[in-house]
Formats: sequence, structure tokens, C-alpha cells
Amino acid sequence: MKTISFIFLLCMTLLHACDRGSMEQSQSAQVTWKETLPGTYKTSVGNPPAFNLLSVANREPRAQAIKDLGNARVPIDLKEIKVAVVNGRTCIRFPLDKEEQIYGFGLNFKTIAQRGRIFRLHMDHYGGEDNGRTHAPVPFFVSSKGYGVLVNAARYIDVSVGTAVSKASKNPPVTRDRNTDKSWDAQPYSDNLEMVVPEAGVEMILFTGKNLMEVVQRFNLYCGGGIIPPKWGLGFWQRTPTLYHENDVRTEAAGFEQNSFPLDVVGLEPGWHSKSYPCTFEWDQGRFPEPEKFISEMTSKGIHLNLWMNPYHWPDGTLDKQLKEFTGSHTVWCGTVADYTIPQARKIMQDHFQKNQLDIGASGFKIDEVDGFDSWLWPDGATFPSGHDGEQMRQTYGLQMMTLTDEIFRKKNERTYGLIRAANAGSVSYPYVIYNDYYSHKDFITALINSGFSGLLWTPEVRAGGSSEEWVRRMQSVCFSPMAMINAWADGTKPWSFPEVYKACQEVAFLRMQLLPYLYSTFAQYYFEGKPPFRAMQLVDGFPASGEIKDQYMVGDNLLVAPMFTGEIERKVILPPGQWFDFYTGKLAGEGTIIAKPGLDKIPLFVRDGGIIPMIPAIRQTLEWKIDLPLEIRVYGKADGSFNLYNDDGKTFNFENGDFSMQRLEVKEGKEKLQQTGSGEFGYTRVSWRFF
Ligand code: GAL
Repeated sequence: MKTISFIFLLCMTLLHACDRGSMEQSQSAQVTWKETLPGTYKTSVGNPPAFNLLSVANREPRAQAIKDLGNARVPIDLKEIKVAVVNGRTCIRFPLDKEEQIYGFGLNFKTIAQRGRIFRLHMDHYGGEDNGRTHAPVPFFVSSKGYGVLVNAARYIDVSVGTAVSKASKNPPVTRDRNTDKSWDAQPYSDNLEMVVPEAGVEMILFTGKNLMEVVQRFNLYCGGGIIPPKWGLGFWQRTPTLYHENDVRTEAAGFEQNSFPLDVVGLEPGWHSKSYPCTFEWDQGRFPEPEKFISEMTSKGIHLNLWMNPYHWPDGTLDKQLKEFTGSHTVWCGTVADYTIPQARKIMQDHFQKNQLDIGASGFKIDEVDGFDSWLWPDGATFPSGHDGEQMRQTYGLQMMTLTDEIFRKKNERTYGLIRAANAGSVSYPYVIYNDYYSHKDFITALINSGFSGLLWTPEVRAGGSSEEWVRRMQSVCFSPMAMINAWADGTKPWSFPEVYKACQEVAFLRMQLLPYLYSTFAQYYFEGKPPFRAMQLVDGFPASGEIKDQYMVGDNLLVAPMFTGEIERKVILPPGQWFDFYTGKLAGEGTIIAKPGLDKIPLFVRDGGIIPMIPAIRQTLEWKIDLPLEIRVYGKADGSFNLYNDDGKTFNFENGDFSMQRLEVKEGKEKLQQTGSGEFGYTRVSWRFF
């Protein structure tokens, strides 16, 4: 493996962002980039602590999958990345070209293109502004030049993306006289991206790629690769009101059956605990007198139960007593906060979950309140028995809860799929989807688009609707997301809450069910190749690498989704190069920029020329998803195309050992071909082709 090594001294003028510390005191930092895997370079500067985001995520890079991507050149001069350790902080500077655009930095809700923005990457509940305080403040960016960098530190990191102007700049801004020059700008041109990590050293990993997608793939694979949810996880979810009794849950599930609406998962909110918040993690005897019996009854109806929690312990509850010596200095809602970086603490919690939740059939968790707000979470000065401080715990508590719960499901060889309100770099290989209490439909879609740059999954959950129009538009977009869910914890809404649009809601939910083979194969790409299932347009080959498109996205390789928002009767859709076809009719939709005018009952969907979309009949629950269902392979347009149709047992990790089927679908000059690979016996047996 080639080693690129550059040694240089840093002088005061180099790093404007570090001006708080005297740069004379700065250590000379040696930056040695070592190519550890093809297109993947690592450096460690100064003395970074062993505790970082990836140490918490605790996954091995998927080395073979990265090797399979081959080599890619480094599109920048690595000598131009400057690092200095000043007064216990590490300042990093990346060069920016004039036309260069930057994406990523975690879950942003209003913006995709980040040049010109300032962040403090700080775990928090999203407060309505893209300033770094978010549920997933991932210190990873992707440059339109074709590289990306992960700053692997569990700290609040300051970022200025093209705002700071160094005296040493090679492309300084023009000085203008505001008195006379109208083009004076308070934000002069900046040719760099600067970051400050409050630690005396840092580890960074740089990923290259032949295109932006490949950069993201390398990052995802390096962090362990994406996940394949259990099949039931991709069905429809309904979260029930907080204090529901098990009989209410039965009635709710029956309602879905009577109204013929898909339902695979019911989420129980705080009321399943005997007390909350903080939580006891024990079943409430009144509302759920016989949880095991209840869960098994639900399971027999094809319904999986997901359990809400916040991970803070009810004082003097059973767990609190056992965990006492492993808890931090502060409480959250009077509940103790266990330090799950300590193996004994993990084991106590895991054993409890195992015995009281997993072994009686619960399918997963919704892990709430691990993000913020400052006013109720522990302060940065909090101490924890492992020695990690409040800031480190804040940045990683969500990750800790993901690894803790994932481990017990893995031990049972059972896949889970759940929700979490805090994630970070390294979350990609954990089966959790992020959500929050914010509720802007448009911003929810922008978050969905951003999630794909940072190894995250996001659900634009539906809770309430100001009108039937809003309701149906939200239902349509949530069905094209990682988790199709109504979160009725507060409002008690149902899919039929707005009867006038019920049919359209039903149609789109069933359409999701029909598309499950496509969606599942798209998640398989996430696992095998690191390709995010929900993608920004910039990740499509041939699409301009720079730009701000925050209201349309791709699901997998072939399907473009252009959600409609309240008040809109038509919208602009920017298509990647080539001809695109209307998903519903198969008719040519156009090329370049088009206008979609879909009516209230449809979400605009487009398929690329040669795009293949495999579909099954409209099943209500994933337990009906069998290999002998008639599978229709839709082929759009005239171009040649191919698709890897993936299938496995849908619930275990056996696929990791090769127990899956891959059916390669190919169309060449109008002729179809199906080739079966993989060692598993999960290939669809009743296949028909439909050429539009
Ligand atoms: C909130 C969460 C909601 C719901 C609620 C229950 O923190 O975001 O989705 O679970 O708690 O109290």
C-alpha cells in the first residue's frame, strides 16, 4: 500500500480559525496520509484520544467491498490540507476551489449545499436552523471534487465552510470600498473549509471516488457498510397513543385489517412502562398484564411490536439499583444515566432487555431523548465513571444505545429495525432510523436527502395534518422513505383520519408494499456496496456535482421521487441525463427539467430509460411476501438495463454468510434475461416481464 507522507511546519498565518490560541505555541504537526485500503487514506495528528466516534461504533471496515471498488485518484494536493495543534485544540484547513461545493455534515433540514455555512457540530434536538445542532452532527463532508473526509472525534467540532479568509490564501478576496462599491460583500470570498476540534490531536480518514457516490460508498463501507432491515421493517408502522391499554392496541390493529390498510409494526409509546419518564423498562401491570401472551397474539397476526424508551432510569427501580455504580454525575428527569462504555453496565442492561423484552417477542426499540435539549440533558461538565466527559457522552450516547441493543439481537440471530433520535458517524451499520418532533414537511424531505451523504436513515414520519391535502401529501412521501410510519402518540391519527383522501393513502401504502422487492434490493446495495438507498441527486452519475436540490431524490438506482407539498398543484422536476418515464403509465415524461402535475392522488415518480422495477401484488403484510408470488418485472424505455434482485430469509443474519439469492435481471436490445446467483434458495419462482 502506498504511503503519502508530507511533513510541514505550520506558521501563525496559516490558520486563521485558530486565532484564539497563540499560534507561536502551535506544535509542528506532521501529517502522514497512509492509504489503508484503495482510495482510503488515514492520518493521525498530535495525540488524539482512543475514544472516538468509530471506537464507539465498533465495526470493522468492509475491506473486501472497498477493494472491489478499485482505485480512485486523490483529486486534491494532500499537502494543501493543513493541521495545527494549538492550545489543546486541533485546527484543520482544507482547500476549496471556486466552483467546489460541499455536502454532508450530518442531518441538515434546510440546506443540501453547505458552502458558506458555519456549524458547531453538537448533538441536539433540531432547533429550526442548520447550525450544526442536530440529531446527527456527523463530522463527515463530501466535496464535489470527488473526495470526502471524516474527522473522527467525539467532540463538538466547529466548521466554517468557505467563510474564513486566511492571510496565506492563494485566492484572496478582492478588497472593496463599501463607500463607493455596490458589490461590497460582508462575506468575502473564502478558499477553504476550516474545522476546529477541541482536542490536542485528531484522526482523519479521507475517501476518494470516481464520483460522489463512490466517495459516500467508501465512507459507508469503512464504517461497516449499510444495513438490510428485516422484511417486516419495510412494511407499514403505526405508533399508538401513549396510554393505550393492550385492548386498545388490539382494536387499533383490527381497524387496520377492517379498513384494509397495510400494517406490520405497532409501536408502543411511554405507557408500556410501569413509570416514565425516566423509565422503569418494566411492563405496566394494568395496561399490559400479560405482555408475553399479548405479544405472541400480535405476532400470530403478523404484527411486530416496537417499544419506546428513553434510556434514563427510574430512581430506585430495579435497574437503577443494579446500575448505580456505573452512572454519571447528573440525572435526566430525575433518572440516572448509565455509562454504557463500561462492559458491566452494558451487560446489566442487555440482560434486562433480553429477558423482559426480546425473549418475550418484542421486535425492537424506539430510543428517544438521546439527543437534547440542553435544558434537560446532562451538562458538558458532567462526569461519568469511565472517565469520558459530558461532551463525549452527548456526542455518542445514541451510538452507544444502538450498539448495545444491536448486540443482543445479533446474538439471537434476529434482525431488528427501530428508531433513534441521535446518531453519528458509524451509525450506518446499525438498524436505526432517525426521527424528531419538528414537523415541516419540506424540511423533512431535505433531511431525507441529506441523510444519504452521512450514512444515516431518516423518516419523515406522519403525525397530524392541517388539512386532508397535507395529510395525503405527507403519507405519500413517508411511503418513499426508510420507514413508512404514522406516529400517533399524541394525536391518535389513523390512515383514515381524513376520509376524503383515504383511498389515495391506501393506494400509496399498497404501492410501497408492491415495491418491496425493489426496496429490499436497494437496501442490499447499501449493505454490499455502501450505496445509500435514499439519495441526493448529486449522487446520480452524470448529474451536475454542484447544486442545491432539496425537494427530490432517488430511491435506489432507477426511481426518482418528487414529493408534492401542500398548496402545490404542479412542480418542477430536474431529471438526470437521458429520457425519463412516468412510473405509473410508462409514458415518456421528458428530459432535462420538466413540470409534474400529478393530482392529489399521486406522488410524482419517474423511472430512468432502461430502468427495471420488480413488483409483487399488493400484500397487506410482509408475512404474505413469498417467493411464489407472481413477480412483475417492469421495464421502462428502450435503453439496455440491468438490476440485481436480492432476496433472503428476511429475518436472520444468515445473508452475511452468503445465504441469499441474487437474480440478475437484464435487458439487452429489447431481450430479457434472468440469471440466478447466490447460494440461497430465495429466488422468485413466478416471474413475468412487462415492457412499457
Ligand atoms: C417524544 C418523541 C415522540 C414521542 C413522545 C412520547 O420525545 O419525539 O415521538 O415518542 O416523546 O412521549
